[in-house]
Amino acid sequence: MKAQTHRIPIVSLTLAVFLAAAPSTWALPRIKVLATGGTIAGAQVTQADAGYKSGTFSVEDLIKAVPQMTNIAVLTGEQVANIGSQTMNHEVWLKLAARVNEALKSPDVDGVVITHGTDTMEETGYFLSLVVKSDKPVVLVGSMRPATAISADGPINLYNAVALAGNPEAKGRGPLVVLNDTIQYARETQKMHTTRMDTFASPNRGIAGMMNTGKAFFYSTNPVRHTTKSEFSIADLTVANLPRVEVVYSYANLGGELIDTLVAQGVKGIVLAGVGDGNSTDAALAALEKAAKQGVAVVRCSRTGAGVVDRNVEVNDDKLGFIAGMELNPQKARILLMLGLTRTQDIKQLQRFFVEY
Ligand code: DGL
Repeated sequence: MKAQTHRIPIVSLTLAVFLAAAPSTWALPRIKVLATGGTIAGAQVTQADAGYKSGTFSVEDLIKAVPQMTNIAVLTGEQVANIGSQTMNHEVWLKLAARVNEALKSPDVDGVVITHGTDTMEETGYFLSLVVKSDKPVVLVGSMRPATAISADGPINLYNAVALAGNPEAKGRGPLVVLNDTIQYARETQKMHTTRMDTFASPNRGIAGMMNTGKAFFYSTNPVRHTTKSEFSIADLTVANLPRVEVVYSYANLGGELIDTLVAQGVKGIVLAGVGDGNSTDAALAALEKAAKQGVAVVRCSRTGAGVVDRNVEVNDDKLGFIAGMELNPQKARILLMLGLTRTQDIKQLQRFFVEY
């Protein structure tokens, strides 16, 4: 009898303590970290190996390295790949996009963070912009210094990314890139410097906002079509059925031979990384015109890194059968053309994609 009378207050006390502690945990956003490698998971190696190696640490190592993140989110991790992003490829993109869509479909996931090398982060982010089917936050994050470097930037970048992925204000904006306290739209951003921490910039529309130790300040919205409003999807895509699209870099004295070779190899699309306003030599333009007449989709972009390549300015796109790449840099134009060609080969429709996405 005595024992029973004591049990009730102990149970009540336990319950009271539990309830007092629980709501803060329950209220935390649930974030899935999908790891792909990159410098953020890289370690310095011996001098003989020259520098460092991307993709050394696992997703669990990354999460454990920033224990402060448990104060702002409930984290789960998954290793999708562990590569330097210079070797990013269509196979990993399709796998990653499938995992992102799967994760975001779950009511138990509020947002996704993707750890990624910075070399091709903008391409992966733009690919996801076009094929993710959710308005929940998707945040790509990397670092410029490996985890073992002096003043490694990975931990703060990861903390910011997790905070942003759990922030309702980040919903509906399309994939975001976070590094160096800066938020950028994946569609806008590009890597501009080989080594500096402020390597990412959004030269056309500007940055999306700023982070201050987990707090987000948004400056702009993302007006282009993406994610839930995108007409593209990975549903029927495989590595084998993605149309081959190549980029040809323009420079003084470029001939048409490379373009002819690509056409002979059966490419479905060519993106010109043109000089200036998407321009090139007479020989290259003649080869591209010939390619377009044979049914290859030709998109003109600029190698300058900023600006709009609009239709029919210095090059007569109507006459030559070209598509203007508008605001996209050549590497992103390749992605849109590839996905566009899974839908249509009609030049007008393909041009519409470059205006809307
Ligand atoms: N190899 C590069 C990559 O994984 C290193 C650059 C980086 O991750 O920042 O993209």
